[in-house]
Amino acid sequence: MKLLVTGGAGFIGSNFVIKSLRVKKDLEIIVIDKLNYAAHPDAIKNLERCKLVVDDICNKDAVFDLVKEVDAVVHFAAESHNDNSLRNPYPFIESNIVGTTNILEACKNYKVRLHHISTDEVFGDLALDDPHKFTRYTPYAPSSPYSASKASADMLVRAWVRSFGLEATISNCSNNYGPYQHIEKFIPRMITNRLMGVKPKLYGDGLNVRDWIHVDDHIAGVWLILEKGAPGQTYLLGANGEKSNLEVVKTLNRLMGYPEDDYEHVKDRAGHDRRYAIDASDTIAELGFSPKYTDFEAGLKATINWYSDHPEFWHLDKEAVENSYKQQGQ
Ligand code: NAD
Ligand code: DAU
Repeated sequence: MKLLVTGGAGFIGSNFVIKSLRVKKDLEIIVIDKLNYAAHPDAIKNLERCKLVVDDICNKDAVFDLVKEVDAVVHFAAESHNDNSLRNPYPFIESNIVGTTNILEACKNYKVRLHHISTDEVFGDLALDDPHKFTRYTPYAPSSPYSASKASADMLVRAWVRSFGLEATISNCSNNYGPYQHIEKFIPRMITNRLMGVKPKLYGDGLNVRDWIHVDDHIAGVWLILEKGAPGQTYLLGANGEKSNLEVVKTLNRLMGYPEDDYEHVKDRAGHDRRYAIDASDTIAELGFSPKYTDFEAGLKATINWYSDHPEFWHLDKEAVENSYKQQGQ
């Protein structure tokens, strides 16, 4: 099988490429990635059966040339950080909406199977005491320019399925953690703060809840969908990992040898979603999805060890990332 992986030099994309090639010996991968600030091409550069093409999915000709060579496309490429989308939404509109349209047109033209990677944020948020979780039937209600751009992309995929018979699936996954995540994101920012002797910074009251899943479980879910998913279907991926940000910081402090309450509150994110929670029961029943990393503390410990062992991944960026947060009062 030959796959085109968009955004394969980013956090989830690079984990997908590395781990898929390790276990699937007849798999070839072409990565298209424009190498924005979140990319780390060194992680995939010298892999056998993997070719990296440095280009932008907004470049329609490049996308068409690559899609015609492959059996399927897994579409990770996106601008992915909410805080950045609040400062400047335009790259999100370009990459996440225009870029996705190019992928759809190319897949339609060459009749290539597409799996589109989306997020639980398209459903908006839940109250802390809401007994319901997100399902594939939850109406879309995105809050930020980022989540609105992802919701738009999902709608485009659905339109191409219905109007052109495109063989496409969508997954909406919850918050990922694991190696190679950019240090602008919550867990890696908190770990690398601690490693630099800086206190973790909680937005607002710190009671917002995220539903954590290890990146390897996300990847396993994507493969199940690629191999067994029904064309046109949406699959939710999550691992019952709801935790408040405060709980995460306390656990992290304890694991890193600091008092649990050694953190500070900073300015809240505008429009900050209160809680995400995934009901993955349809994906479990239909595809046998079964997350392996059910012990969040063990997964977090492994992630702390990874960032401690790989300062080359984040050291050079840390000062600039923190300066940028400082300007926002965060
Ligand atoms: P990331 O920011 O770490 O990586 C994104 C990658 O896409 C980068 O390598 C970047 O260079 C590339 N890219 C961006 N725009 C591009 C363009 N126009 N052309 C070519 N390449 C481009 O993001 P991530 O966290 O790995 O997220 C990957 C996907 O998974 C995104 O679609 C995101 O919405 C989705 N998702 C992420 C999470 C999460 O918790 N991180 C959860 C659910 C879904
Ligand atoms: O739910 C899936 C989404 O998860 C993905 O679609 C996004 O691409 C991904 O970035 C992530 O979005 P979040 O906004 O939930 O992730 P982030 O890591 O930015 O923040 C997680 C929570 O932690 C959120 O409630 C904000 C809070 N936070 C974040 C940072 C960076 C803090 O309290 N302090 C911080 O310094």
